[in-house]
Amino acid sequence: MSKISQRKDEHIRICIDEDPSFKIKTTGFEEYEFIHNALPELDFDEIEIAADFFGKKISAPFLISCMTGGFAEADNINAALAEAAKDLNIPIGVGSQRQLLENDAFENSFRIVKDKSGDVPVLGNIGGQQLLSLKNITDVKRLVDVIEADAMVVHLNPSQELIQKGGDTNFKGIAEKIESLVKSLPVPIIVKEVGAGIAKETSKRLLELGVSGIDVAGAGGTSWSAVESLANGGDDNPFWDWGLPTSYCVKETAKLKSDSDFLLIASGGIMSGIDVAKSISLGADIAASARPVLLAYDKNGIEGVINLLAKWFDDLKKAMLLTGSKNLFSLRENKLIKKSELF
Ligand SMILES: Cc1cc2nc3c(=O)[nH]c(=O)nc-3n(C[C@H](O)[C@H](O)[C@H](O)COP(=O)(O)O)c2cc1C
Repeated sequence: MSKISQRKDEHIRICIDEDPSFKIKTTGFEEYEFIHNALPELDFDEIEIAADFFGKKISAPFLISCMTGGFAEADNINAALAEAAKDLNIPIGVGSQRQLLENDAFENSFRIVKDKSGDVPVLGNIGGQQLLSLKNITDVKRLVDVIEADAMVVHLNPSQELIQKGGDTNFKGIAEKIESLVKSLPVPIIVKEVGAGIAKETSKRLLELGVSGIDVAGAGGTSWSAVESLANGGDDNPFWDWGLPTSYCVKETAKLKSDSDFLLIASGGIMSGIDVAKSISLGADIAASARPVLLAYDKNGIEGVINLLAKWFDDLKKAMLLTGSKNLFSLRENKLIKKSELF
């Protein structure tokens, strides 16, 4: 197994068997309360949570975040996640396709996501760091073709790279590479973090580069700096809790919506339907989740994933009814209050 495949395998093991969650920092969603509406004048059955994802209709404002591919066991995980995505009619991302740039050995672990997910949107994935080492930016086109991707995700993970043994620590030139990728790929580009968050100024820069979507992937859920210290045998890591909380990143980046049209994804520590509802209320178009979905798969397979997310979507609808929100647009109309204002 190549080093890249080994690492992906180890990441799955750590995310299932150990706990790489933030220790002190939270998403900040608990700092917000919904303004309860005791007179909603709505029929629960008419609450509408369908959303648009780059022109495709999806049944809930939710994405199964990019996780895996590129080693033998990833076939099973990706097949199950893809079937769950198909059942729920929601988009799904594959994990980093970096391994495919080296050889075709585990191509099926990515392709299977397209094969099993029917017509739902499928997202490719590559690290900003890997873009730097590409001789030809159009190599990424192959990664899109393998899974007939509807969009390509570029992940930024400087805190992870700094903690990872042998991580790539020269980050110069990634912005320029993203800009050329935007120009050369036929599909929209989404840029995400992996759990340390994207600040408003960075989002602004990314939009100037031409990206079509931003997934803030903020702090409060899985810490990738933590995953790497667990991989290093649990070394002392003062950056375990590094990053900007998800709620803050969403609220701030949403302010850019008045000037630009882009898809805003809230992720990093999304753990419930109420978190999804708060994300949308703070200005996100959709929410996304990674490790909680993996853990549901590990415990109860495809059914586990479907049951978890179906419950979240049902709870999202309940939160919408209780705030008098018939649809997602209405949920964004000042439905939240800061907890500090309640007392
Ligand atoms: C097992 C696992 C593997 C991941 N691999 C990738 C990856 O290859 N590419 C990527 O962009 N993000 C990857 N992520 C990061 C997630 O997409 C997400 O941004 C991060 O885990 C925070 O979300 P969470 O708190 O819901 O887990 C991975 C996450 C998990 C749990």
